[in-house]
Amino acid sequence: MAKKCSMMHVLSQKNGELYMESVPLNKVADTYGTPAYVYSRAAISKQYHSLENALGNQTHQICFAVKANSNIGVLGLLASLGAGFDVVSSGELERVLRAGGQANKIVFSGVGKTAAELDFALKLGIQCINVESHAELIRLETRARLLDKTAPISIRINPDIDAKTHPYISTGLSENKFGVAPGVALDLFAYADKSEFLKVEGIDCHIGSQITDLSPLLEAARFLLNMIDVLEKSGISISHINMGGGVGVNYSEEEIFDISEYAKGLTQLLQGRNLKLFVEPGRFLVANAGVLLTRVEYLKPAPAKTAGKNFAIVDAAMNDLIRPALYQAQHKVACVNVSPKEANSKVQWDLVGPVCESADFLAKDCPLHLEQGALLAILTTGAYGFVQSSNYNSRNRVAEIIVADDKFHLVRRRETINDQLTLEFLLPASHYHRDSDPVKISGD
Ligand code: LLP
Repeated sequence: MAKKCSMMHVLSQKNGELYMESVPLNKVADTYGTPAYVYSRAAISKQYHSLENALGNQTHQICFAVKANSNIGVLGLLASLGAGFDVVSSGELERVLRAGGQANKIVFSGVGKTAAELDFALKLGIQCINVESHAELIRLETRARLLDKTAPISIRINPDIDAKTHPYISTGLSENKFGVAPGVALDLFAYADKSEFLKVEGIDCHIGSQITDLSPLLEAARFLLNMIDVLEKSGISISHINMGGGVGVNYSEEEIFDISEYAKGLTQLLQGRNLKLFVEPGRFLVANAGVLLTRVEYLKPAPAKTAGKNFAIVDAAMNDLIRPALYQAQHKVACVNVSPKEANSKVQWDLVGPVCESADFLAKDCPLHLEQGALLAILTTGAYGFVQSSNYNSRNRVAEIIVADDKFHLVRRRETINDQLTLEFLLPASHYHRDSDPVKISGD
């Protein structure tokens, strides 16, 4: 009988082995090696539908925040579910198009859009550009004039509301670089309203990520609605309100509001208004759908009778998953093979990688029964996992796989050292010294 794991609904245990949907994770690791990110199609669809259903009759559009997971296989799945997309670079925009996303369901966020990026967006005719400063608005107007286009815009408000999350992912306070202060925003709306090349469509905010308390999100919605009222009074009409992303997920023991509570709160606030609601979820749609598979290379237990640490050195590292080092994130870890006997003999392990930094840890104090060669799954890594990976220590970025029922498909192959080196150039020997340098004569 399959047993659901309490920590993650996409995984189940069968005969002492961990499965994602109907695929044994051992089989994925044997086929494509480790480390590897593995995503569940069913889990992503389930999250998408739960949000769709929660928003019910409220006119709405879900724009997946591509930064959370930009693999084109994953984007293709979301496009097939009907999602729109929130992008923050021309690279993300290109990915969405290649994945089959429609330009007219794309919104473009970010504080530093270049002229080339704005041109790309305008030529494609994307749905909306979320403007984050006066200077950006002026640049956008100039680009639109040059291309003889009308730019559909929203202004991102910085409401100075504390999302009560990690400071690195808190974005709605006046000390953060994002959005514009409400007073400035009113001026920008008035300017845009008069411009021949700008068309005011919406108002937006994104106050932070991994938000576990509903109240700041609803407070931000109320704030934007008040601004809409002020704008309407001055004859500027707004057709959509974009609440950004931010809905938290359960990594370890967090208590998080239910998505239906959030949707209910928003739809109640929007009742009687002719406004389309946009949301830009990233983490909520994909975090719990993904695991990072990694194998134990070595065990390095604390010396006997000391209070030292037990280290399990695994083949994944901070370059593959930087969240623990960067945000003190706590991801649960599960053994892919668990026999009931072993389950009783657990020791606390720190999971560390091969990178030469003490910040190279993936999890701390994990109660696990481990041996060399054991296969582990680091949970809730479908969002901000692979996308934040790097080649630090010249490590190849890992493979990505989508599981669908009893099948699994490679959606990004593991890099090779040639992939890395193909972008670099060794200079001819003569370029490594100045002509004036004393000539070194061999044998001297
Ligand atoms: N919209 C905008 C404008 C955003 O900046 C973000 C995330 C989202 C939507 C999606 O937010 P979500 O629904 O995923 O919370 N690397 C960090 C998270 C950074 C989030 C940046 N902005 C992490 O690993 O926790």
